[in-house]
Amino acid sequence: MFVPLAHAQNLGETLQECPGTLTGSTQPQQIHLQMTDDATVMNVLWATEGRSNGEVEWNGQTATSADYCYNHDVAFHMASMTDLVPDEEVTYRVGSGGDWSEEFTFTPIDSSARHFEWISIADHGDSSEAMDVTEAIIADESAQMVTVSGDIAYADGEQSAWDYWFQEQQDSMTSIPWVTAVGNHENEPGYEFSPYEHRFDSDGQIESEIFWYSRNVPGVHMVFMSTEHDYAPGSTQYSWLEQDLSSVNRDETPFVIVYGHKPMYSSNSYHGSEIELRNALEELYFEHRVNLVIAGHDHFYERTWPVSCVQNGTYVNGANPQHIRGIEGDRFDSYMPPIHLVIGIAGRSAYEELDEPQPEWSAYRENNSYGWTRLVFDGDAGELRFTHHRIDGTIGDQFIIQEAPLKSEDDGGILGIPGFGVTLPLLAMFGAAMRRLR
Ligand SMILES: [Fe+2]
Ligand SMILES: [Fe+2]
Repeated sequence: MFVPLAHAQNLGETLQECPGTLTGSTQPQQIHLQMTDDATVMNVLWATEGRSNGEVEWNGQTATSADYCYNHDVAFHMASMTDLVPDEEVTYRVGSGGDWSEEFTFTPIDSSARHFEWISIADHGDSSEAMDVTEAIIADESAQMVTVSGDIAYADGEQSAWDYWFQEQQDSMTSIPWVTAVGNHENEPGYEFSPYEHRFDSDGQIESEIFWYSRNVPGVHMVFMSTEHDYAPGSTQYSWLEQDLSSVNRDETPFVIVYGHKPMYSSNSYHGSEIELRNALEELYFEHRVNLVIAGHDHFYERTWPVSCVQNGTYVNGANPQHIRGIEGDRFDSYMPPIHLVIGIAGRSAYEELDEPQPEWSAYRENNSYGWTRLVFDGDAGELRFTHHRIDGTIGDQFIIQEAPLKSEDDGGILGIPGFGVTLPLLAMFGAAMRRLR
């Protein structure tokens, strides 16, 4: 239950559903940016123990917040910073009832930039491993965004866990936006999705009405979908996905990534592949040339080969497709079927049991480490680089997807690099030998 301030007569009425907010500190906490689909507008959300009217100050401007709550005795505030100029740093602070936060800065994302770096995680929570991941994110000064593929705070009905989680991420979330897809742990006993809807604002509506949306960042169209709502053909979400994926301008965003919680490919024995999801959406992703599908849910790391079984259940490029093995990992191109990732390694206890033998579509998997993944769009090189980091500082897996098609050896060299025309047949022979060994 909520009544946004904009439509209420007074604050007491606004927050009457949360009597615990009658008293308590109005010092802003849990401050976090929320990226809108307009590069000139950034929303900021925060919480206070006691109810109050809030405001944000930035670049000499002020805006009042909408103030609201859900059935948890904390008041929430959301305000919009407008007239932002991409790539020009913004200094801001938020205030409630005369109590102000410290000043923070962020740089609005310039969607025409030729370079963009971000971190993707899933299945986070608050374990010591999760804190290691949080610290790594805070220390990463090059990352311009964080995505979470669901299972975020693991509050599971204990609302103070959300308060704690947001406070722990504040140093990062006040300077770069965290953008989320909803997981099964956001569907909480006694609350359903209400805490998620009120604490993350994917549509600027205080209580978000959508669980699927997209954002454009430099070089990449990102789709955030929900595996926790109906996605079958004919559903509202399916229609939206179809429309959204059809409207991507590949000249502006050559790469497309879908973030969602449950994986359509996983060889972990705990949950495994979500076959219903695969049957419903794989063809759509294949048709619209989705490059990466980044999921969590199974608490391990796995990367598939570019894979699609839409043609009568036959895997296309299911094992050892054409690719180049290089020092920075395997290299693929953006015309191949999607590569599926399970990255549920950001802190929750590892699910160690794996399906054996390793399925032919599985390229790399790791079931006993924790960490995060990092992506770089390099527009000048025309490529998307992916790296899987463990909390011990080592790298587990990495690969590259290039925008242009990989040329075949018949073209007399790949990527204009002399010698690859000779190397590739050798790699193919090696690959065939390895296949026979399995
Ligand atoms: Fe999980
Ligand atoms: Fe999950």
